[in-house]
Amino acid sequence: MKILKTIAEVREQVKAWRAEGLTVGLVPTMGYLHEGHASLIDASVRDNDRTVVSDFVNPMQFGPNEDLATYPRDLEHDAQLVEAHGGDIIFNPEPEEMYHKGFSSFVDMTVLTEELCGLSRPVHFRGVCTVVSKLFNIVKPDRAYFGKKDAQQLAVIKHMVRDLDMDIEIIGCPIIREEDGLAKSSRNTYLSEEERKAALILFHTLRYGEFMLKNGERNVAKITAAMKEKIAAEPLAKIDYVKIVDLDTMQQITEVDRPALCAMAVYIGKTRLIDNFFTEDLWNSADPKNKEIK
Ligand code: PAJ
Repeated sequence: MKILKTIAEVREQVKAWRAEGLTVGLVPTMGYLHEGHASLIDASVRDNDRTVVSDFVNPMQFGPNEDLATYPRDLEHDAQLVEAHGGDIIFNPEPEEMYHKGFSSFVDMTVLTEELCGLSRPVHFRGVCTVVSKLFNIVKPDRAYFGKKDAQQLAVIKHMVRDLDMDIEIIGCPIIREEDGLAKSSRNTYLSEEERKAALILFHTLRYGEFMLKNGERNVAKITAAMKEKIAAEPLAKIDYVKIVDLDTMQQITEVDRPALCAMAVYIGKTRLIDNFFTEDLWNSADPKNKEIK
């Protein structure tokens, strides 16, 4: 496993692999890797001959009052994790390598970025689309792996690839959770012990929404109102949004009468956490726990 810092080195390595006829998978990350990231690396190692993991805290996708300066970093730990999971390269550029002086080209998207996280993080998806496009151009992978944890991001990337004719297969991977249900996230490290307990409200509320759907409720206003009420009872939680949207367009719907995404962003203290479920996964799963929730 090698850590490469420059675009030229990555290009050279990928070129050598291509010359041998090998396939390449890309796992874009911002580092501080956990089992959620590891599951994407596992999927890539399974599907491809070689796997590149990018490890870059992308300044462009952070708003002015967001956590760019405090975002956790630990390259040594990341290297161990990538190595243990069979990744071949970590691409860990400095910001100046990715954004040279005078950088002025961006990849922007309408519609899908206008709801959910796009509303509270107006510059976010422009930064994500731009950096992911650059990574695609640098690595030229056959496949790229994204987590369903960032469901809107996954939808946006799939849409970008289609709109811009990028010849890359986008693979969405399931959300990996802690034992008690909290979705794994690099940002969980911000939580105090008390906040960590309070953060479970996201998972419990999603299960409650799933339970309503499983029991036949299809009215979005009713489901989201019940979910918001549950979150409001947790004193450390502050809702950013709880919404159900069309899976393709990320626009709000009034009835769950098509493939949909139920997504939320909730502040626990100062930490903004996101979580979600896809209705299609709900219909496909025969998880008996859905019946237990009152
Ligand atoms: P980051 O937050 O580091 O996440 C990298 C990838 O890991 C994303 O595709 C995300 O959905 C996935 N992931 C994170 N937590 C997960 C979990 N608990 N289960 C499954 N997958 C999980 O997302 C980004 O970085 C950036 O926006 C990036 C795409 C790298 C562009 O900068």
